[in-house]
Amino acid sequence: MMKICLILVLILPLITHALQTCEQCISSGNHYCADTKICNSPVCLNTITVALNCPHAPNATYDDHEARTKWLPLFGAGATNEKMAQKCFDNNWPTMKLSKRILVNCSDPSPILPTTQCAMITAVDTSQRILVLSFRATVGGTQMGEEILNYFVGKKQFFDVGMIFEFFYDAYVALWNGGLSAEIRNLKYKYPDYEVWVTGHSLGAALASVGASWIVKTGLFNPNNVKVFTAGQPRTGDYNYAMWHQNTFAYSFRVVHHHDIVPHVPFQYEVVDHDKMYHHRTEVWYNNDMSEGSPYQICPEADGLYCVNQQLDLSWNDHTHYFNTDLNVYGDQGCPKKN
Ligand SMILES: *[C@@H]1O[C@H](CO)[C@@H](O)[C@H](O)[C@H]1NC(C)=O
Ligand SMILES: *[C@@H]1O[C@H](CO)[C@@H](O)[C@H](O)[C@H]1NC(C)=O
Repeated sequence: MMKICLILVLILPLITHALQTCEQCISSGNHYCADTKICNSPVCLNTITVALNCPHAPNATYDDHEARTKWLPLFGAGATNEKMAQKCFDNNWPTMKLSKRILVNCSDPSPILPTTQCAMITAVDTSQRILVLSFRATVGGTQMGEEILNYFVGKKQFFDVGMIFEFFYDAYVALWNGGLSAEIRNLKYKYPDYEVWVTGHSLGAALASVGASWIVKTGLFNPNNVKVFTAGQPRTGDYNYAMWHQNTFAYSFRVVHHHDIVPHVPFQYEVVDHDKMYHHRTEVWYNNDMSEGSPYQICPEADGLYCVNQQLDLSWNDHTHYFNTDLNVYGDQGCPKKN
């Protein structure tokens, strides 16, 4: 009896240490093992070193059908002119009405690069009580090249919740000052209790992340009424921004197609990387062509060496094709209805 007691006294602290939650484990300076679910597991394939990546299921349910029938036409509408944006709605979501399109110069002042433009739309569905903000992707290679140059130029403080890339910050502020601020105040006044759906692809995805965060940080909308849905999003902010975002938005999905290169940039594991940038939750990875019925993974880590981060061969073509649709032309064609 004495012996058993003695053994218990000796091993109990080890057991309780091993059984800590991922967050407890990391905050006490240890590493959590995702495979064994043990703190400081001696054998581990998938070690988690930051709390951002502690495995969790999303707080909301991902709906592949809704992605194809609602969010996809919203990407299309955000990427085209007024006439075709409304056509995108008429073809796919007839109760949704375009409210405003905003087009501004969004490039950094630069003597060598041409001026580029950023665009977005707002829309309202009074029957389903939904407001939409949809941000346009990059247009052509110049803007993407410019973005990539600007990735390494600078970061800006985003309210009190971390840093985001200056290019995204400035582009968002250009849209805000170019009409979005007035528009959103009008919409909020007319439809104070509507849900707000914020979305975009590529550059538009980063702007959607920033935009959703902005309307919450400025107190205009309650995060419980905001849904964020992005496709092909580049890393947008730092660890603190990512952590704040995922602690704030119960509904935020970040869809990645197969080997799309853009969610990998800027690369996280660089040698010269003073303040690492991180993705926020929840990555949904389609490791296939994303045709109707394709399987997908709901990734339990925000930005670990998991899901798409395990891919080494990267593709531009996968970046422009989401849900088996060429996003370079889909909006301008009025988002033809699938099936
Ligand atoms: C946008 O940039 C173009 C080209 O540099 C310029 O001609 C135009 O005036 C600018 N528009 C605004 C609103 O600043
Ligand atoms: C998500 O769910 C967890 C567990 O119930 C909760 O602690 C957390 O606050 C929720 N996050 C959001 C953003 O609602």
